Amino acid sequence: MSINYSDRIPNNVDLSADKTLQRALEHWQPHYLRWWQEMGPDESQKLDVYLRTAVSVAPDGWAHFGYVKMPDYRWGIFLAPHEADRKVNFGDHKGEPAWQEVPGEHRANLRRIIVTQGDTEPASVEQQRHLGLTCPSLYDLRNLFQVNVEEGRHLWAMVYLLHRFFGRDGREEAEALLERRSGDQDNPRILGAFNEKTPDWLAFFMFTYFTDRDGKYQLCALAESGFDPLSRTCRFMLTEEAHHMFVGETGVGRAIQRTCEVMKAHNESDPQKVRALGVIDLPTIQRYLNFHFSVTIDLFGADISSNAAMFYSAGLKGRFEETKLADDHQLRNMSYQVLEVADGRLGTKEAPALNALNERLRDDYIKDSAGGVGRWNKIIQKAGIDFELKLPHKAFNRRIGTLASIKVAPDGRVVSEAEWAANVRAWLPSDEDRAFVASLMGRVVEPGKFAGWIAPPTIGINKQPVNFEYVRFN
Ligand SMILES: [Fe+2]
Ligand SMILES: [Fe+2]
Repeated sequence: MSINYSDRIPNNVDLSADKTLQRALEHWQPHYLRWWQEMGPDESQKLDVYLRTAVSVAPDGWAHFGYVKMPDYRWGIFLAPHEADRKVNFGDHKGEPAWQEVPGEHRANLRRIIVTQGDTEPASVEQQRHLGLTCPSLYDLRNLFQVNVEEGRHLWAMVYLLHRFFGRDGREEAEALLERRSGDQDNPRILGAFNEKTPDWLAFFMFTYFTDRDGKYQLCALAESGFDPLSRTCRFMLTEEAHHMFVGETGVGRAIQRTCEVMKAHNESDPQKVRALGVIDLPTIQRYLNFHFSVTIDLFGADISSNAAMFYSAGLKGRFEETKLADDHQLRNMSYQVLEVADGRLGTKEAPALNALNERLRDDYIKDSAGGVGRWNKIIQKAGIDFELKLPHKAFNRRIGTLASIKVAPDGRVVSEAEWAANVRAWLPSDEDRAFVASLMGRVVEPGKFAGWIAPPTIGINKQPVNFEYVRFN
């Protein structure tokens, strides 16, 4: 289970036993580093950052903490331990031994799944690359960089699969992953949410809460895969993902905490006056939440999808916690409720469960997302402030699937174009909201100091004090 750090590419897959593969990946490595230099965090190359690095894939104590210059981070290939006798647990091949090589008939689909997942990893690094210049504290700066290096490692995880199992096509895809750019007109990233900007730290925390959680659900579904190397890769990635969502949940929570403290101290609830006190008013936080939630649930894809059915039946991508579910794991005669638009109205209908797998995963995701929103509301309640954050209706602001054809208010009412236009500034962040949030973003890098709009965390990283020098400027 331990990781070989003496190889040029750290790994626990016995890379040196396959010289051709090792050479191919060593050829890709400098291209990756060039991408990191060009598209990784701005002005960060020389900083010493207190980062964790995986030392073992065992569930306990897998991380080592120490100062690292990010270009020297030991990105590598780490798979969760091999499980003897693992089976394909769902779909038409249910009961067969899990595949250690790519089944020929599923090659194109598997490649597509891996490339789509892989593309999101460098995309988020690109989206977040300017944030270091406006960090609210050293603690937050370190967390941003930790997320960034791990997204880089997730790219390595997918590139390993492409190189190891997909030959020349895989190597070409691995190069293309370094060529697409988030938000680029000509060569954008594959998925919509990964071409949006992450311009400020509230957006970053919402992104890591909502969009990294999409990552969790996709990885959970792929961790069920009958293709065992993909499953093992995703299982280890999930251990890293947990920290990203922690950064998001606590980051939003700390912004709310600070806002509530200031509202209380000045006995003020008018959003404009709250803003004048230098914190983010709660309605603006709600609008950011609405935006990031709605853009993220589009990532699950169309509510009715023949691709989703095919990926499942082929044993490539399972459901969330597939093996814990009590049914036949083939879903041939089952149905699932999806939203439909009929005569401009929102209703529900039964769809074949196989075709509704995207919707099912989206619903699992939404349930999980509600948890943190409840904890944010506890902070507001505790402060004695009368305000409640809510997840918008899942039909709100959708651009993918049948729901893209209608306008729906956050509370689920179908509205006219005119009503939408009249209210959109109350429902989604306006340019003015974003400009206000941007105006609060100034770089704070003195150990233990925090920007005025955000409360300090209750505990530091790796049991270090909150005023620890998490990043050293040289
Ligand atoms: Fe990731
Ligand atoms: Fe992540």
